[in-house]
Amino acid sequence: MKFTVASQSQPEDFIARLLFEKEDKEENNIFFVGIGEKGKSTAEDIIRVGATIARKAKEKKKTTVSIEISEDVSVFNLTIGIILGNYSFTEYKKKTLEKEKKSLEAVTFVTSKSVQEEIARAEMIASAVLFARDLINKSPSQTPPAYLAEVAQQIAANKKDITCTVISKPEMETLGMGGLLSIARGSYEEPKFIHLTYKGGGKKVITIVGKGITFDTGGLSLKTAGGMETMKLDLSGGALVLAVFSIISQLHPEITLHGLIPATENMPGPHAIKPGDVATAMNGKTMEILNTDAEGRVVLADAMSYAEKNIKSDVIIDFATLTGACMIALGEEVAGLFSNNETLTKDLQRSAKNAGEKIWELPLVDGYNKLLKSEVADIKNIGGKYGGAITGALFIQAFVPENTPWAHLDIAGPAFAEKGNVLCSHGGTGFGIRLLIDYLLNQ
Ligand code: BES
Ligand code: ZN
Ligand code: ZN
Repeated sequence: MKFTVASQSQPEDFIARLLFEKEDKEENNIFFVGIGEKGKSTAEDIIRVGATIARKAKEKKKTTVSIEISEDVSVFNLTIGIILGNYSFTEYKKKTLEKEKKSLEAVTFVTSKSVQEEIARAEMIASAVLFARDLINKSPSQTPPAYLAEVAQQIAANKKDITCTVISKPEMETLGMGGLLSIARGSYEEPKFIHLTYKGGGKKVITIVGKGITFDTGGLSLKTAGGMETMKLDLSGGALVLAVFSIISQLHPEITLHGLIPATENMPGPHAIKPGDVATAMNGKTMEILNTDAEGRVVLADAMSYAEKNIKSDVIIDFATLTGACMIALGEEVAGLFSNNETLTKDLQRSAKNAGEKIWELPLVDGYNKLLKSEVADIKNIGGKYGGAITGALFIQAFVPENTPWAHLDIAGPAFAEKGNVLCSHGGTGFGIRLLIDYLLNQ
């Protein structure tokens, strides 16, 4: 999509005019977009305005639009909204593509302000979100762990400030990554452990971890057919890590950033791990796997152990489509936030607000740790019927390096838009990327 800035809109253009009103209205070729009360609109509101304009243009089969910005409205957020609202995944649309293809090609912002820089930054960040959406939306058989590893290596190629290490199965065995290896046992595809490093100077070392289950059947604790339909989404955390690294050099924050992705399928093949099996994580802790569908925490246990051994992190943040329970608690638009550190919690909440993404803090109830007590091992991977998002987070916490500020974002709900909405047509959403980038740029 092409963005330009002009001082006047062409009368023959399709025009979107922003007004301080509640409702949208239409008149001939002018679309009046209500942006609410003056001074009251949030980042999310303006992003939605952008997406609404993109969808309106699509509906009217217009490929160009002039947006008249009379007041102080964030062109950064408008641009993000336009790009996100305009996106659809068409890789596999062949015969039906022609009629669905029409989407915005050119946008003119009618304003006297100098907004080029805002537009460029928004385009970059939105491109990372679309990169993640594409990765999530592809056929899961085309995005096995080796594919994620390839993408990671491509991101690092030719960049002076990014390096990529991919740990393959034999090395995992040497390192004792028993969590990732045990979940991978039921799959024909080999697991990969991806470690990206960005060195942007400065003192702060931040580690981000993304759950990279490239398809989650549940393993021998098999999901229902319906429960499996969207399970290509289970690499969303990993896609987020790759997406952030795809633009981090251009944003060049003065930090060191490590990105870890434990990547595997979760399949019920003949060698699959069985409920009751005990696996040993890289830090030596034993895990009784009572439900093979609670696989995310098991692979994250190795990622945390790896971080403890190899990285001196000031902060660790993990992103995982971890529990259906979190989705039941918070719905499809809100991620659950768990953290052992108040400052980190506040910082992430602020960044979520800045980015127009919704997160809600849930408690790490210490007393619930007893639900994870195993009769045979150091810990078990399920905590019973209630509080599933919390026990999932507590399991991960048991592997977090001591005295390290850590946050866990359970993105099971917002990672995927089943029905599609104004900001995102059906499929992967790329949730969390915008808030994380805001966080990283504020370090
Ligand atoms: N990937 C799922 C969680 C999920 C469910 C994400 C629905 C998005 C939508 C995860 O691996 C899982 O299956 N978790 C189990 C845990 C349970 C067995 C303790 C769940 O939520 O049912
Ligand atoms: Zn699962
Ligand atoms: Zn899963």
